Amino acid sequence: MSQLEAIVWKDGQLKILDQLLLPTKSVHLRIETVQQGWQAIQKMQVRGAPAIAIVGCLSIAAELQATLGDESPGAQHPDCESLHNYVSFSLAHLVTARPTAVNMRTEADALTKYSSSVRNTCTVAEMKVKLIEWCKNLLAEDVATNKRLGDHGMQSILDDAQKESREKVTLVTICNTGSLATAGYGTALGVVRSLHAKEKLGGLFMLETRPYMQGARLTAFEAVVENWPNSTLVCDGAVGALLNTHKVDAAVVGADRVAANGDTANKIGTYQLAVLCAAHKVPFYVCTTATSIDMTLESGAAIPIEHRPQEEMTRVAGHRVAAPGIKCWNPAFDVTPARLITGGIVTEFGVFRPDQLKEAMASHNK
Ligand code: MRU
Repeated sequence: MSQLEAIVWKDGQLKILDQLLLPTKSVHLRIETVQQGWQAIQKMQVRGAPAIAIVGCLSIAAELQATLGDESPGAQHPDCESLHNYVSFSLAHLVTARPTAVNMRTEADALTKYSSSVRNTCTVAEMKVKLIEWCKNLLAEDVATNKRLGDHGMQSILDDAQKESREKVTLVTICNTGSLATAGYGTALGVVRSLHAKEKLGGLFMLETRPYMQGARLTAFEAVVENWPNSTLVCDGAVGALLNTHKVDAAVVGADRVAANGDTANKIGTYQLAVLCAAHKVPFYVCTTATSIDMTLESGAAIPIEHRPQEEMTRVAGHRVAAPGIKCWNPAFDVTPARLITGGIVTEFGVFRPDQLKEAMASHNK
């Protein structure tokens, strides 16, 4: 098992790498039920928009796998209709675990549609196998789309660098959008992986990403494991000084939900990074698979923002750091307006300006 494998499906069992324990401990946790999947997502033992959706779906697959062979009239799912209802109900529950990332809802809609389309075509046992297969396929599909978007992002950034006769590029990122946030490879860190594979990565600055510390704990871990050159951790508050004093070719960030106009919800701190990039004329790229694009929302104003418990701010690794009695404001995400996404929105279909997104998605959904 690779150190960076966040989601493992093997012999009909689902295991996730407990990201609350990284980087000091690598512990894989077995998920046997939908409720355990919901809790792991809510507690952020697994996190990152694509990983949340894949684990949610696979938690259903794990339950179905455990009941394969028990299709008697008294069984939990005696017929295809009741199995379909159970799957739809479980998906609706999983969507509630974390509200900002849209991926769980995207996959819930797709799996509900698939379940509905097969329910009249097979036996209960066959339907379970089909649903399990559908969920398992998400793993390979996610890696494939990540690789495609990684290569598109790489090309766009290298095209700009060539205009300045620069061979290698230095990037800045926030949060963790890599192997640990996906089925493997990553979105913004997928661009980093593609650049590194072509020996075009000069360096990577990563913001700590208070308060959950995805940058310090997870992206730094990926960078060290992968031996990315000149990987450097930066305090969130140091990013203005960083851009003022260092040559940074581009910012690459992920997305939890992109609205139809390109406004993007991502990890708290992304908006200030975008503002600072605009002030320092550093191209700002949102890197995302189409599963995080929500064409039902016109703008970012309608994106629900998750607020997390104040203990995430008042304590670091279990130790209290904030004065007892202080009030806390702890939004987990912010919205970056489309006008600040100056590099483009990098997807598996190519790189688009925010104002091209609607048309681009419409042509791929045909
Ligand atoms: O709270 P998290 O860790 O789930 O937030 C993760 C992010 O904001 C990522 O940038 C986003 O989900 C994209 S991960 C490929």
